Amino acid sequence: MRKMIIAGNWKMNKTPKEALALIEELKPLVKNDEVDVVFCPPYVSLMLAVEAAKDSNIEIGAQNMYFEEGGAFTGEIAPNMLKELGVKYVILGHSERREYFGETNEIVNKKVLKAIEHDLTPIICCGETLEQREQGITVDLVRTQIKVALKDVSAEDAKDTVIAYEPIWAIGTGVTATSEQAEEVCAAIRQVIGEIYSGDVADAIRIQYGGSVNAGNAKELFAMENIDGGLVGGASLKADFGKVVNYK
Ligand code: G3P
Repeated sequence: MRKMIIAGNWKMNKTPKEALALIEELKPLVKNDEVDVVFCPPYVSLMLAVEAAKDSNIEIGAQNMYFEEGGAFTGEIAPNMLKELGVKYVILGHSERREYFGETNEIVNKKVLKAIEHDLTPIICCGETLEQREQGITVDLVRTQIKVALKDVSAEDAKDTVIAYEPIWAIGTGVTATSEQAEEVCAAIRQVIGEIYSGDVADAIRIQYGGSVNAGNAKELFAMENIDGGLVGGASLKADFGKVVNYK
């Protein structure tokens, strides 16, 4: 069976000092051998976070990266830099990157391929706006996002990637998708993975739900057949995250 994976996306929150304090506070609360636990602080805290998480079950992820190894790309961070720090995961194609920084499906694909080349596990985000949901195009849109993001990714590598379905209307709004709504799209994602690759890959790949996950709704969401954990924003910045990780 697939191991659950619950990741905290801290977004642009916490200074390095605050990040260290939060990791120390959460460390005893997020112990759970049945779940892969990932913290994704801002770049400036990654080094401290890797060190602070060393003696724990917590792995560290970045929130973004560029698709070149180095060069004249002012302000960007390369995959090899993350790898050298001891970072294991990288969130790619978050809707906030798509909306505010112009990331397209094609850019996400380039990043996914580079992350894999450098042995970083991509957490590939997808999801629709409220308007798109109301137009009834959610599944089509998410299928396209996934197909393009995984272009030229081998079946073996695809098995190890993580997909995060995050309906944009549920992010930071306090409005969570119902477990049925989340399950419907996560099932559609698994189906498209099966079409691109095989049933084996579809069974192996882990699909998270993200969007106002908290201690109160995690149990119901994570009980769904095609939901293998969560990508958590606001609730990952407080002690509540321990309850999300120990949702059972
Ligand atoms: O990546 C996690 C995210 O976008 C969800 O944020 O605050 O709704 O849990 P939040």
